[in-house]
Amino acid sequence: MGREKPDFYALKAQKEGYPARSVYKLEEIQQKFAVIKKGHRVLDVGSSPGSWSLFTLKLLAGTGFVVGVDLSASTQTPPANAFYFQGDIFEASAEATLAKLGPYDVILSDAAPLTTGNRTVDTGRSYNLCERVILLTDAHLKHQGNLVIKVFQGGEEKVLKNLMLERFSVVKALRPKAVRSESFETYFIGTGKRNV
Ligand SMILES: C[S@@+](CC[C@H](N)C(=O)[O-])C[C@H]1O[C@@H](n2cnc3c(N)ncnc32)[C@H](O)[C@@H]1O
Repeated sequence: MGREKPDFYALKAQKEGYPARSVYKLEEIQQKFAVIKKGHRVLDVGSSPGSWSLFTLKLLAGTGFVVGVDLSASTQTPPANAFYFQGDIFEASAEATLAKLGPYDVILSDAAPLTTGNRTVDTGRSYNLCERVILLTDAHLKHQGNLVIKVFQGGEEKVLKNLMLERFSVVKALRPKAVRSESFETYFIGTGKRNV
C-alpha cells in the first residue's frame, strides 16, 4: 500500500529505534501539554507495536511504571518498570489486570479499530473505543490525572469532548504534525481529572 511508504517520520523512527512512527505524535503532545512526569504510573491502551510505551519509559528514566495493553501480543521485552499484556479493553478480564496494576497518573490511548474504509463504520468503532477509555478513567485514573485519546473525526466527537469536559479541568484537541495528511484522526488531551 502506498500509505506504508516510509516518510520523514517513519525513517526517523527507524533511525531512533522506535517500532512505529506514531511516537512523534505523542512527542508533540508531550511537548505541548507535559502530560507525563517522572515517577508517573502510566497505562498505555492499544500499545502495540510499542513506540508510545518506549517513549514514555524514556521520559520516566527508570522511575514510575508503564502498563501496556493491546489485542496483539507485545514483541517488546519490558524493562523492570513495565508490564505488557494481551487483552481487549472491553473485556472484564483485561480491566481486572489493569486494575491490579493501577491506579494511574496518566492514561494514554492510541487505540484504533481496524479500518474498513467506510467512514461511518470506522468513526463509530473509534467512538466506542474512546468512550470505553474515558469510562475507564473513572475507576483507574487518579485525581488530577491526565488522559490522551485518539479520536476519528466526522462522528460523535463532540459527545466525547463533553464526556471529557465532565471529568477534566482542561480539555484540548491537537492534530500532531506526524498525523498523515489523509488521516482523519486527532487527539483529545484532558488534564487535571476532577473529583467526580
Ligand atoms: C495505532 S496502533 C497503536 C500504536 C502504538 N501507540 C505505538 O506507538 O506503537 C493501535 C492499536 O490499538 C489496538 N487496539 C484496538 N482495539 C483494541 C482493544 N479493544 N483493546 C486493546 N487494544 C486495542 C490495536 O490492536 C493496535 O495495535
